[in-house]
Amino acid sequence: MPSLSLKVHQVETLTPRVRRLLLVGEHAQPLPAFTAGAHLELHVPGERSQRRAYSLVNLPHSGHYEIAVQLEEAGTGGSRWVHSLKAGDPVIAEPPRNHFPLRDDADHVLLIAGGIGITPMLGMARALQAEGKPFTLHYAGRDAAHMAYLEEARQCADMHCWISGGDPARRFPSSEVLANPRPGLHLYICGPASMLNAVLACARQQGWAEDHLHFELFSGALEEAGDQAFEVRLQASELTLQVAAGQTVLDAMLDAGLDPMFDCRRGDCGVCVAQVLEGDADHRDICLSARDRADGSFCTCVSRASGPLLVLDL
Ligand code: FES
Repeated sequence: MPSLSLKVHQVETLTPRVRRLLLVGEHAQPLPAFTAGAHLELHVPGERSQRRAYSLVNLPHSGHYEIAVQLEEAGTGGSRWVHSLKAGDPVIAEPPRNHFPLRDDADHVLLIAGGIGITPMLGMARALQAEGKPFTLHYAGRDAAHMAYLEEARQCADMHCWISGGDPARRFPSSEVLANPRPGLHLYICGPASMLNAVLACARQQGWAEDHLHFELFSGALEEAGDQAFEVRLQASELTLQVAAGQTVLDAMLDAGLDPMFDCRRGDCGVCVAQVLEGDADHRDICLSARDRADGSFCTCVSRASGPLLVLDL
């Protein structure tokens, strides 16, 4: 499907760092449908290819797309560009895609959001509520003033809010929340990598089946302060490419006219995996095991080099 020409219909400040945008068709054209958990990939203008995926928060079939974006000061410009947008500005996006769909066979859904990870969780909560399906929403954050959509989340019938105030002792109580796995109960979680890893490790310890665990990193988690440019040598293609600080290896390959395999672009699916032949990898994915990484697997869509050069088998 071709890229979508959209325009910003409305911008609203939700917290000091989070803005909500409503996007509509540039010429009021109908927009492709989506399901809860889907994301929209925006093309960030600039000399380098950059795309940023943001979860859709609104109900499907509402005639617009709603996203909420947290400003990442340490990031490489995607969120800063989104925060500079105002009503009427044009935006190019890829049609919505969903790597994080709700399962039809769940009889109860446990939604866990950490920080701006509330966006897909609230989209799912809205959809489940509209369909009259039971769910529980847990929303964890540092302080209420920085938790987007908190008032709306609090309106959900079975909602639990966890505010740490920055105290590590008041962390999300995974072992209580995950104490009773059962066949009809599915867990969905979106948040920063540290929370995701802790909750998933606890769920596995408590005996949750792997196919009942559904997770996604929020997109800002993929950019880090101090990201540096590096060189990537593609052995099979006999090409050397420069990967800029705000660019991924995958985007550098696409810019060079190559046709690499990829799907989620968020380190979730493993479709883009290549082999590292030389150099040290800085892994940012959530799909490779420690063993995979030790064997040289590398997600080109999110991971970087921790030195000046990386040689891949591609
Ligand atoms: S494209 Fe899915 S992990 Fe890279």
